[in-house]
Order: sequence, then structure tokens, then C-alpha cells
Amino acid sequence: MTTIDKPIRKPRPARWLPLETPRLILRDPREGDLDDIQAYASDPEVVRYMNWGPNTHAVTRTVLDGWLKQARRWPRRTVTMAVELKAVDRLIGVIRFGLWDPAAGTGDFGYVFNRTYWNQGLCTEAASAVVDTAFRRMGMRRMLANCDVRNTGSWRVMEKLGMRREALFHHDVMAHDGWRNSYLYAILADEWLAGSSANSLS
Ligand SMILES: CC(C)(COP(=O)(O)OP(=O)(O)OC[C@H]1O[C@@H](n2cnc3c(N)ncnc32)[C@H](O)[C@@H]1OP(=O)(O)O)[C@@H](O)C(=O)NCCC(=O)NCCS
Repeated sequence: MTTIDKPIRKPRPARWLPLETPRLILRDPREGDLDDIQAYASDPEVVRYMNWGPNTHAVTRTVLDGWLKQARRWPRRTVTMAVELKAVDRLIGVIRFGLWDPAAGTGDFGYVFNRTYWNQGLCTEAASAVVDTAFRRMGMRRMLANCDVRNTGSWRVMEKLGMRREALFHHDVMAHDGWRNSYLYAILADEWLAGSSANSLS
């Protein structure tokens, strides 16, 4: 049976947070994360390719309040996770899972990390845990991510996860310097599970 004629498995709502990887814990955001969130969200280099920021303290306060409210519900379509680095015992970034199209078993994810911790494979480690959970525990069929074409660090993460560049969108998102072009990357459950020894959390 190919991916095309397989029946769609309905995503299961069992609670799958927190997640643990060798260096990280992915968990619900907490009140005590405020300063660590502001540290990355106020950095112009971090938000360079985003359609938000740099944040004032007041904006980050409002954002965290929304995440804390969101974290009280389960199941939910958007799960924003604090990424905590065990070695320093604090939030170093955030990764978001979205149940994009439940009927099609399609989810998406996005991430942002404090610049101090870039280029150490940490985002790839966190995203790998989210994608693995989506396919193995939630029964998702397809996972998507997108980014500004100039954001090499971001699409490198997607490629290291084994995702395929499927589309180039022209002027689809308003960035800080005008309408940006974006890449869409995707991976199917079968493809992820076929590379399971590299991708498995265990
Ligand atoms: C995107 C982001 C989360 C990546 O986090 P990270 O922890 O540095 O990611 P990783 O270390 O797992 O992988 C990054 C890869 O990109 C590569 N990279 C980063 N900048 C690069 C550049 N300018 N040119 C070429 N490669 C680059 C790194 O070398 C690394 O690849 P490698 O492991 O093959 O050497 C981080 O850069 C970030 O927070 N950026 C700002 C927010 C953002 O843009 N989020 C994504 C929105 S779509």
C-alpha cells in the first residue's frame, strides 16, 4: 500500500508533553520564562526574517499571557513549547506545533532560538522530537514548515530533518523589509519512519 491509498488516521489527542531529548526539555511555557523569551524576542538579528518583533517588554508580556492561557487546554490545535537547555536550566527558544489540517493529518511547526545558542544543532534536536512525536504518537501523516528563502539557518534545519523543498511562494509574507519569498518544506510519515534509526527519540 502506498502513502496515496492509505486511509487517513485521525490524529489522537493523548497528551504528549513534555518531551525530552539528550540536551533539551520541551514543555509548556511558564510565568518564569518571561525574561528568557524577551531576551530572544527583542534581538533584531533573531527576528530579522520574522513578521513580528523586535518585541517591547509589554508585547512579550501579552504573548506569554496568551501562551499560558493556551497551555491550560488539552487537546489544542496549537502547542507552543518552551525549549529548555538542561545544561543551563533555562528557556533558550520556542518551538510551535500546529494541527494545520486535522482531516488530512497535516501539521506544521516553527521555531525561534536565542542567538547565543545557534549553530549547535539544538533547533534540529528540538524539531526532530516534535516531528517524531507527530508521526509516532499523534498519528500525523504529513508535516510542513516554511521560512524566508534568505533564512539559510532555518531551511538548513528542515533539510537536516530530511524534509523536501516542495514550493517557492512569491511575496507571500510581509517581512520587516517588504514582501518576502518563502520556501515550503514537507515530509511524510512513511519517509520519516523509513529513516527511523536516525530520527527516533529512543
Ligand atoms: C533558525 C534557527 C532556529 C536555527 O537554530 P539552530 O539551533 O542554530 O539550528 P541548528 O544548529 O540545528 O542548524 C542550523 C544549521 O544552519 C547552518 N547555518 C546557519 N546559518 C547559516 C548561514 N548563514 N549559511 C549557511 N548555513 C547556515 C548551520 O551551520 C547549521 O547547519 P549544520 O549543522 O549543517 O552546520 C535559529 O537560527 C533562529 O532562531 N533564527 C532566528 C529565528 C528564525 O529565523 N526562525 C525560523 C523562522 S522560519
